[in-house]
Amino acid sequence: MIIVANWKAYVPEVSRAKKLFALAKRLATSSKVTIVLAPSAPFLGLLAAGNRSKVAFAAQDISSRTDGAMTGESVAAVFASAGATYTILGHSERRALGESDALIAEKVQRALAQGLTPILCVGEKERDASAEYLSGLRAQIGTALALLTPKERLGVIIAYEPVWAIGKSAAEAISATDLTEMVLYIRKVLGEYVPHKAPSRIPVLYGGSVDPVNVRELAAAAQVDGFLVGRASVDPVSFAGLVKALRA
Ligand code: PGA
Repeated sequence: MIIVANWKAYVPEVSRAKKLFALAKRLATSSKVTIVLAPSAPFLGLLAAGNRSKVAFAAQDISSRTDGAMTGESVAAVFASAGATYTILGHSERRALGESDALIAEKVQRALAQGLTPILCVGEKERDASAEYLSGLRAQIGTALALLTPKERLGVIIAYEPVWAIGKSAAEAISATDLTEMVLYIRKVLGEYVPHKAPSRIPVLYGGSVDPVNVRELAAAAQVDGFLVGRASVDPVSFAGLVKALRA
């Protein structure tokens, strides 16, 4: 199981960041879970410097460019030098700021070129009775994968995050049955881009109000390969509970 802790902008204090990293290191000893921390960029540099633990690091986003005169941009190569091995891309909070599928597809290419594993976030804003939202999801995945070589496609992680389920209570997270359906649908779409049987080699994560209570049911029922966790990942008690639930 892969657990990506998306700290968003929830952790502005360096002392708190260090404590959460120390906790993650203690929790990462089981071979059943891979913990990936996504702190804000300056803290990623600080925590990942000289990291010899099993905890891995993800950028929360990267620039769509490679280098040059771009004040304020952080490019993939910088995150790779700083110790990141993954990057979240296309999070709904970035899409809400105007990022298009085409821009996110460029970022996926930039990430792969620098050896960062892209965690491509996809998910519908809301559901409609005629299931139009499925074609939106298909476009989010397809636009990113179409530009990649067959081998590169197998190096991507998909994080299914329905926007309506993000930042809510556990009761409002997706049901295990619905998640199972969505994972099957995503694997079907992936099947159009990778050879027969290969879709199961692309990890599919779920994100949206995951907590220590619902995580086990979702993990057992839905054939997901892990979780992308926001709020519960910056609360030490919740995060420890969540990882322990998946290790058990
Ligand atoms: P949440 O966030 O766990 O707070 O719902 C998930 C995410 O946005 O990645």
